[in-house]
Amino acid sequence: MRILKTTALALAGAALALAGAALALAAHAQGYPAKPITWIVPFAAGGPTDAMARDIAQRTSQQLGQQIIIENTPGAGGTLGAAKAARAAPDGYTLLVGHMGYMGAAPSLYKKLAYDPVKDFDAVFRFPDTPLVLLVGKNSPYKTAEDLVAQAKKAPGKLNFSNAGIGSTSHLVAALFASRAGIEITSVSYKGAGPAMTDLVAGQVDAMFDQTNTALPQLAGGRIAAVGLTSAAPMAQFPGVPPLGQKVVPGFETATWYGIYAPRGTPREAIQKVYQAYTKALADKAWTDKMASQGIRLLPAAEYTPEALAKHTASEVERWRKVAADAKISLD
Ligand code: MLT
Repeated sequence: MRILKTTALALAGAALALAGAALALAAHAQGYPAKPITWIVPFAAGGPTDAMARDIAQRTSQQLGQQIIIENTPGAGGTLGAAKAARAAPDGYTLLVGHMGYMGAAPSLYKKLAYDPVKDFDAVFRFPDTPLVLLVGKNSPYKTAEDLVAQAKKAPGKLNFSNAGIGSTSHLVAALFASRAGIEITSVSYKGAGPAMTDLVAGQVDAMFDQTNTALPQLAGGRIAAVGLTSAAPMAQFPGVPPLGQKVVPGFETATWYGIYAPRGTPREAIQKVYQAYTKALADKAWTDKMASQGIRLLPAAEYTPEALAKHTASEVERWRKVAADAKISLD
């Protein structure tokens, strides 16, 4: 009897302590954000994730009335930064800029992952999506995606594709493309799409998949050429560049998705405030038009919500189990 009583008292004490902590967090969240918020971008500065995050952070911060600081934490295809965010205090002041690679595919690719994209995070909001474009250097002997495929068939494993890191979108999309085209390529990994692009421009590698928003300024500079799109339809921003799914790999279509995530247990009020600031920013048509002009694909409003992003993340983790197995994508 005494043991029972003691256990009951201990349990009641623990429950009270938990309720107290939750109340303290909620009270704290009412004045949120009272200080600058950090967004962890798990790639080097200058790549597509960084560019999009900085643009969206600036607009969201204007609406929030609080500064958002971008912290670049590159390494291991984004998984290092994601692990850091998962361990951060769940107070709304450290958030993760997540994407398809380390928040969708990673659980299927890594035997041991230091975080669970679904269980360790609360979704905050989804960014618009970005299709990718297959690029070669300006002086490349390969003028079309067919040329690249033909060369890879002639000399398996000899073509080098640069990417933003193992498990990054540029790595995954190249691996998927190679698998569907029935070719073997060699992947060369960097700490972000920025340095991967630098080596493409310098002619150190043969090809690279990059997101449209960062590929466009490089194309305008004339240092690289585009030979295929991962979108289903041609894009006005890339005149004369065919979708890869039209001929080279029938049905091939993909785009990167991104979203903001908070460590699990972050107060609802804080998540709602950040999400609402973002939706207010999205009401500026001049801004969304500018994104669209960079090839960024805007989504219906219902898909930006915390709930929709949470659902999307869980379904992507499941989808990638099949995609990675079918395409035999490995991390070696
Ligand atoms: C990726 O390929 O996953 C991203 O482009 C990485 C980056 O933003 O550098």
